[in-house]
Amino acid sequence: MRIISFKPHHDGTIAALDTSSAELIYSYEAEKDSFPRYSAVTPTTVLDAAGRLDAIPDVVAVGGWERAGFRRHVSDAADYCGIAAGSEIVGEKTIFGRRVHFYSSTHERSHLWCSYGMSPFPTGMPCYVLTWEGLLGDFYEIDECLQVVHLGKVMAGPGEKYSFLYALADPKFTLPQERFRYEDAGKLMALCAYGEAGSPDRDEQALIDFLLPSDPNRLYNEDLRSSPYSNIGVTHQKFTNLARRFSDAIFDSFHTFAKKNLTKGFPLLIGGGCGLNCEWNRRWVETNLFSDVFISPCTNDAGSAIGTAVDAMRHFTGNAKIKWNVYSGQPFIFDEIDRTGLEAHPLDYDQVTSALLSNKVIGWVQGNCEIGPRALGNRSILAAPFSKATHERLNRIKNREGFRPIAPVCLEQDVALHFDLARPSPYMLFFQKVLDSRLKAVTHVDGTARAQTVSREQNPRLFQLLTSFKGKRCAKAPCNRLINMELSRHDIGTCEGRYGRRDQRRRAGRRL
Ligand SMILES: [Fe+2]
Repeated sequence: MRIISFKPHHDGTIAALDTSSAELIYSYEAEKDSFPRYSAVTPTTVLDAAGRLDAIPDVVAVGGWERAGFRRHVSDAADYCGIAAGSEIVGEKTIFGRRVHFYSSTHERSHLWCSYGMSPFPTGMPCYVLTWEGLLGDFYEIDECLQVVHLGKVMAGPGEKYSFLYALADPKFTLPQERFRYEDAGKLMALCAYGEAGSPDRDEQALIDFLLPSDPNRLYNEDLRSSPYSNIGVTHQKFTNLARRFSDAIFDSFHTFAKKNLTKGFPLLIGGGCGLNCEWNRRWVETNLFSDVFISPCTNDAGSAIGTAVDAMRHFTGNAKIKWNVYSGQPFIFDEIDRTGLEAHPLDYDQVTSALLSNKVIGWVQGNCEIGPRALGNRSILAAPFSKATHERLNRIKNREGFRPIAPVCLEQDVALHFDLARPSPYMLFFQKVLDSRLKAVTHVDGTARAQTVSREQNPRLFQLLTSFKGKRCAKAPCNRLINMELSRHDIGTCEGRYGRRDQRRRAGRRL
C-alpha cells in the first residue's frame, strides 16, 4: 500500500510511505530548491512528488488544520487539535479515475505520530511524548498497544509566545494584526545566550507572569505598547536578560510537570517546532527523567506530513514505525547557468580541503535534500572554523543578524575532543559547551555550539572531506592533537565563487 500525505500550510510538505516495507519513500518540502522559507505546498511540490510515484497511491492523507475561516485547506480534513474519537476522518475519494482511501487526522496527531514513527525504539516500547510548538504544549504516553493517553496540557502556545517576545522588542516589527513571525523563534534562541544569569527582576517577572498563562490567540503586540520592553531593541541587554529568563521559565514549567507526572522512566519523544531549541533539548537529556530522548530532524511542521502518513499507516495496517533516511528530500537540481569564466573539476577532497584552509567559503551540494530545516551535509556552506571573521562573513553571506551563531560539523568519533557531548548528534539538535578554544567561528557568545556529528555510514562524502581536513590540518600542525574536526557550516545561503557574476545576482538570497 502506498500513502501520499500532505501538510499544506507553512512548512508545506508532501510525504510518501510504502506500508509493505514500512519505509519513507520521500518527504518533499515546498521551501527546498530555493523557494522561500516556510513556503506552503505549491503546484511544483505536487508535480515533483507525484512524478516520483509510479502509480496512483492507495491512500491520500491530509494533515488537519484550523477548520474555521479562510485557513481551512480541505473541506473534509480534520481539525488542528485533538487525539480522541473524532480526531481522524476516514473516507474515499476519486483521483484520476481511481477510487482511493482518504485519511485525515489532526495536526496534534501528526506531531505525535511523527515523533513515534521515526523514533529508534522498538515497537511495543512505551514512550512519553512532548509536543510543543506554536499552539500545543502537551505531554502524552503511548503504550505498547499504541494507545495514546493525554497526560496534560502544560501551556498553550509556547512557540507563539516565544516568537511574540522577539517581535515585542523589535522596532522593525510592523505587522500589528499579526502576533509573530516564523523566523523570530530562532533569533530569540540566539539572543538568550547574551542574557546575564540571575533571577528575574520585577519587570521581567511581571511580563513572564502575564505571558505564560495567556491565550496565544489573543496576544497582540499593540496591546503591550506600555511595556518597558516594547520596541526596546532586540540586542538591548535588558531584553536579552528577559529572553534568557523567559526561555528558562517556559522550560521550567514543562520540567516541573514532567518531574511530577512522567515517573516511569520511558524514553521521551519530542515533537513540534520547540524541538529545534537545542538548549532545551540538552536540558531534557540532563533531567535524567527518561531512559533516552529522541527528536527527529523534522520535529517542526516539516515532519507533519510524515506524521499524518504514519497515522494513516497505523490506521490501515496497525504498524506505526517506519524506516527512514534523513536525506529523503528532493534531489538537488542544477540550474542551467552561464559557465563563462568558470572552471569545473571532479570532486577532489584534497583540493576542497586546501580551499577551506585558505579561508575559502564552499557551497557543498550532493544527492537529495535533508528533511527538516537543518543543513546536514547535502546542501551546506562549509568553511574553516577558526576565525571570528569567518563567522561575520558567513552571516553576511546569509544576510543574517550578526548575533546569530554558526554551527560546526565534526567526525562522530572526535566529538568529545571538541565538545562536552558524549553522544552522536547527527541532526544538529543539541547544544554543547565548546572545549576547543580555537573554534572561534563556531563558538557562540556563551561558549556553546550545536554541532552535527558525521559517521561514514551517515554521509560518506562529508565524512571523507572531514577526514581529509583533519589529516591536512594535522600535517600543518603536527603537535596539535586537538585539531580533529573542522568545518563550520550553515543551514541556508548562497554559494561563493561557484557561479558566474550574473548567476550570483540571480541567486542572491535564495536557498541551496
Ligand atoms: Fe505544528
